[in-house]
Amino acid sequence: MPVVSIMPSGKTIEMPAGTPLVDAILAAGDSIAQKCAGKGECDSCHIFVHEGRKSISKIQRKENEQLDSIVGVGSKSRLACQAILGEENVTVELLGFASGL
Ligand code: FES
Repeated sequence: MPVVSIMPSGKTIEMPAGTPLVDAILAAGDSIAQKCAGKGECDSCHIFVHEGRKSISKIQRKENEQLDSIVGVGSKSRLACQAILGEENVTVELLGFASGL
């Protein structure tokens, strides 16, 4: 199973392919805001994916529209509720406002 590594906490968790990244983050014991309850309609679960981007699900139209509206969005940006884990390990970064730190 792929391993999800989470920055800045350094937590890691093995999760099966097909798991939304937000579920992996929560299962690892980190916190992440989900203002729209995972519908892809807000930006509270914005994360950066540093490694393994190619293996996770492609950005769909709704996620793309939300990302377009986020200040500070970059090529590593994803919405954790919309990005689905693939077969490869990934490293994600929780952003300050969303990590509860
Ligand atoms: S929780 Fe709202 S877009 Fe992910």
